[in-house]
Amino acid sequence: MATVKEEILERARRVLVGGVNSPVRALTRPEPIIAVSGEGPYLYDAKWGKLVDYVLGYGPLILGHKHPHVLEKIREALEAGWLYGNTSPLEVELAEKVVEHVYPGGKVRFVNSGTEATMLAIRLARAYTGRKLIVKFNGCYHGAHDHVLVGAGSAASHLGVPKSPGIPEEVTRLVLVVDYNDIDGLRGVFEERGEEIAAVIVEPVAGNYGVIPPREGFLEEIRRLTRKYGALMIMDEVITGFRLSLGGAQEFYGVRADLVTLGKVIGGGMPVGAVVGPGEIMDNLTPSGKVFNAGTFNGHPIAMAAGLATIEVLEREGLEPAIRHAASIEKIIVETLSSTGKAYTVNRVGPMLQFFIGVEKVVSPSDVDKADKKLYTRIHEELIKSGVFIAPSQLEAVFTSIVHTDTEAAEFAEAFEKALRGAGLS
Ligand SMILES: Cc1ncc(COP(=O)(O)O)c(C=O)c1O
Repeated sequence: MATVKEEILERARRVLVGGVNSPVRALTRPEPIIAVSGEGPYLYDAKWGKLVDYVLGYGPLILGHKHPHVLEKIREALEAGWLYGNTSPLEVELAEKVVEHVYPGGKVRFVNSGTEATMLAIRLARAYTGRKLIVKFNGCYHGAHDHVLVGAGSAASHLGVPKSPGIPEEVTRLVLVVDYNDIDGLRGVFEERGEEIAAVIVEPVAGNYGVIPPREGFLEEIRRLTRKYGALMIMDEVITGFRLSLGGAQEFYGVRADLVTLGKVIGGGMPVGAVVGPGEIMDNLTPSGKVFNAGTFNGHPIAMAAGLATIEVLEREGLEPAIRHAASIEKIIVETLSSTGKAYTVNRVGPMLQFFIGVEKVVSPSDVDKADKKLYTRIHEELIKSGVFIAPSQLEAVFTSIVHTDTEAAEFAEAFEKALRGAGLS
């Protein structure tokens, strides 16, 4: 007889494309998670039961699942009503917090996802500069819309080639692709086409190709070149915003962008995105200006309540517990992998990290390509069997929250050692 989980999976496969609503979810081994609940640092699967969660909804849950303060604020907001199609005090309050931390003196527009945020920031940059070209980095992900779904080989730069069928070449020809961390490649592109470039969009820490920190001078050079050529720098902080620090990567690395895109943490687990920047640029958006943006759900009261509650907790308690926990996990991974004699490396920036086996350093997307991805997936599968959930793909990050404690670190240590044995590594 089929188990409850098998039955749900079977039904899901019949009516959801690929059995899921976002592709990475299908990669989980030995089968996709069927999530039934979450509590603190734990996610509950219909078959495996309690799993220490290092995916955290792919980043947003910096306070873990069902944080009591967030729950209380969501309940309060729900009791009042959940959609007004008008401005509510909650979105003004969250806007004030976001502006205070991310862009003092600036303005924000809330949308519903990180994808919408980068789409809008790019439109705004093109309108503001009157130029068409966008520079993006190979190895960076900015959501699922046509203007950023451009893959690239490892050549220093070339005209974008569509990565997904359905995206016209005419669109991607407007996107120049440079390898992440390739400062010379970036200079070359500016020397050739600098006067046509509207913006450079960058993940300050590449968090969608494993975790790759920016090499020294990389973000600064983007800043310098964009200023020199009159282009905008768009820092895509959908992952790093309110994760690396309350001021995000801009504060962490001391580089100020012209526009910042946010998502994930600022919705506290609810769907949200935002574009933040100085009034001079932001006021070009409708209704102050002519650059079109609108959204039935923009500034959704429940998302605003969850985001506001999350930031309030972070202001009170800080990010330190999440960072400390990530450092413990890093140490456990390093010690356990060292004993196998295999080459490996771990990249960590604050409360996000990833490990790579078969390579000694990872500073570029091509280094990630050399890592043993199959072995990573095997370890992921073995970890689930021992009660720990890390992302099923090497290209995602391990995220920690402020509610992960030494108890979970001990569980991780035991599970990781067992997983390496299960994967035939020790
Ligand atoms: C850096 C970055 N930008 C944009 C996005 C897109 O955000 P969303 O999935 O909310 O559309 C993501 C999603 O993972 C992301 O990591």
